[in-house]
Amino acid sequence: MAKVRQKPNVKAQKSGNKLTEAQIAVHWKEEEYFRPSKRFIAQANLSDPAFVKKFSEKHFPECFDHYASLLDWDKPWRKTLDTSNPPFWKWFVGGKLNACYNCVDRHLAKHRNKAALIFVPEPEAESATVITYQELYKRVNEVAAMLRDFAGLKTGDRVTIHMPMIPELPITMLACARLGVVHSVVFGGFSGEACGLRAADSGSCVLIYADGYHRNGKWVDHKASADIAVRTATKEGQEIDKVLVWQRYPGKYTSDSPMAAGRDFFINDVLKNYRRQIVEPVSQDAEAPLFLMYTSGTTGKPKGCQHRTGGYLAYVIGTARYYQDIHPEDVYWCMADIGWITGHSYIVYGPMALAATSVLYEGAPQFPDAGRPWRIAERLDVNIFHTSPTAIRMLRKAGGNEPKIYNYHFKHMTTVGEPIEPEVWKWYYQVVGKGEAVIVDTWWQTETGGFLCSTKPALDLMKPGSAGPAVLGIYPVIWDENGHEVKAGSGNAGNICIRNPWPGIMQTIWGDPQRFVTQYYKKYNKNPKSKNWRDWPYYAADGAVLPADGYYRILGRVDDVINVAGHRLGTKEVESACLTIPEVAEAAVVPAVDEVKGRVPVVYISLKPGVPTTKAIEDKVTSTIETMIGKIARPKTIHIVPDMPKTRSGKIMRRVLAAISNHMDTGDITTLANPDIVEQIRELVQGRNVGPLREGPEDIKRFGDER
Ligand code: WT7
Repeated sequence: MAKVRQKPNVKAQKSGNKLTEAQIAVHWKEEEYFRPSKRFIAQANLSDPAFVKKFSEKHFPECFDHYASLLDWDKPWRKTLDTSNPPFWKWFVGGKLNACYNCVDRHLAKHRNKAALIFVPEPEAESATVITYQELYKRVNEVAAMLRDFAGLKTGDRVTIHMPMIPELPITMLACARLGVVHSVVFGGFSGEACGLRAADSGSCVLIYADGYHRNGKWVDHKASADIAVRTATKEGQEIDKVLVWQRYPGKYTSDSPMAAGRDFFINDVLKNYRRQIVEPVSQDAEAPLFLMYTSGTTGKPKGCQHRTGGYLAYVIGTARYYQDIHPEDVYWCMADIGWITGHSYIVYGPMALAATSVLYEGAPQFPDAGRPWRIAERLDVNIFHTSPTAIRMLRKAGGNEPKIYNYHFKHMTTVGEPIEPEVWKWYYQVVGKGEAVIVDTWWQTETGGFLCSTKPALDLMKPGSAGPAVLGIYPVIWDENGHEVKAGSGNAGNICIRNPWPGIMQTIWGDPQRFVTQYYKKYNKNPKSKNWRDWPYYAADGAVLPADGYYRILGRVDDVINVAGHRLGTKEVESACLTIPEVAEAAVVPAVDEVKGRVPVVYISLKPGVPTTKAIEDKVTSTIETMIGKIARPKTIHIVPDMPKTRSGKIMRRVLAAISNHMDTGDITTLANPDIVEQIRELVQGRNVGPLREGPEDIKRFGDER
């Protein structure tokens, strides 16, 4: 019997007429628990209750010494946590280590002949290639030698990497880590312009590219975006000295973009001069930055989340070991892209620090058909699988019975990045996991480095749609807007925060420490002078509910960020792009529910006086967004409206637009400066025959509030 009955314990609760957002009662059917398959309980890495106890609050922060001790240190740390300058915590103070050494060199003695990476090209006719830890060691050293001696990079420099999912991406990252060079990987699907802006913000003089790659059956000419990136960075005042280009097929150039003499170099050519070179790993301070990862927030400008070497690596090796439950004999496949934090933490640094065998897939999950992931799993005998609700929804829709055709067996599966609908969870469990695999629904963020909430795999009961309790050493709390705790079982939603620091949390926002404080710590800090970490809870900007059983259910963002296919999109970034079009007077971007991607952006624009509404303007909006951000931000629909619904002070009421786009109640609009516009817009969007109103999800109900 896999299911356990649970009494519904969530009631709607109202207090007075006007509810604050955090008090909105969340009506949802409590799901039944699923009991993990007994087969894996015996081997679960977390099965020792005494070990779990060591992470109780009274052992904070020293509990995290255990994670750090999974690494090899050149010099041991003196102090686990230094909180003297809140909220700029220091972890494993005085310790020295090298991240590349920990992910590569130290495995050679026992695992040199073990597959580190198995690369699966998108074209099915191309066979997979295996890179052993020994081969990885050689390749990383040669690239490190090239970065140091040819590109002139040294410890502390930043380098921007804009690459697809090919083995040269983790190789380049590890080579940077070997030198203490701070890498900033930009997701391959972002535009050249987006890459250039990030390169300029980080102060990178060197860009690393690939010439092209396969995606969805098409060849993507990627080098072309390097030229745009260089132009954009230069415009921002950042000179790019060198563009280093990996060839997807070494020796063959597969881009139409010309190589700029003296600036662009083929890595495969240059590397010939660095054959057999060995570079000593540079011993780094535990607090030295390891990488930057840009992510979207509430302003038009993405922020560079800066992650530290020691704390980050300790946190990802610990969580990969205990929550991904990776054992030496496992074949682990995380289908995310390395260009996002999931790929950094749970394809590269966590699994490789554990000497795992990690599968790297170049292409789209449903290419050439929805059976592809399951064929890869069967062929490579993958037993730990990691993906997002969007990919699961897509594969379920395109081939709901496909997994049954293939003879693979997962013991463990992860879902990450968005809330998963219980129905989708059940398909993942029953069909993809064949009723045998445990599922962890891991909630976390780019900023947090690693998991924050998840069930203990194979040990805790699973509840579809809920991330579960906090992971080891993490102490969350839900507060309403006024700082009152929203208690477990109250049925109300609130803002989830983490009360304590942990080693995986980002150090700061690159170049903008003030924004780091205001964005994540100001909201619930009562005393900015306090030196006590208890006064500095981390504000995650996610809504959540907590039933009596202690299983957190994450409702989604409470800020101007929308989660498109598991990727964060700042609506302000999209709006800024629209406003660069001379004809556009005003722009508002809102989320709409999409059955596969979760949320998709819908763009509302109003035009300057005298500009006629044409299809050409719509096309211009789409192409501008694609050029400035990338195809991932492409709007689902564009509505050209005569005016925006506005408050008397002139603020665009994005919530009203979001309600219209999602067939929800627009609520009280009588206080608007122009209430009549609402009906006009509704008719424009929905036509004359308005269907029944829908309730709509929490994040959309609250979208665009006066924050
Ligand atoms: C946002 C962070 C975590 C790595 C990938 C995304 C949402 C993340 C879950 C989950 C419900 C989730 C949150 C969060 N989110 N995981 N298991 N259940 N929502 O990282 O791009 O920084 O996005 O993704 O809203 O704030 P990210």
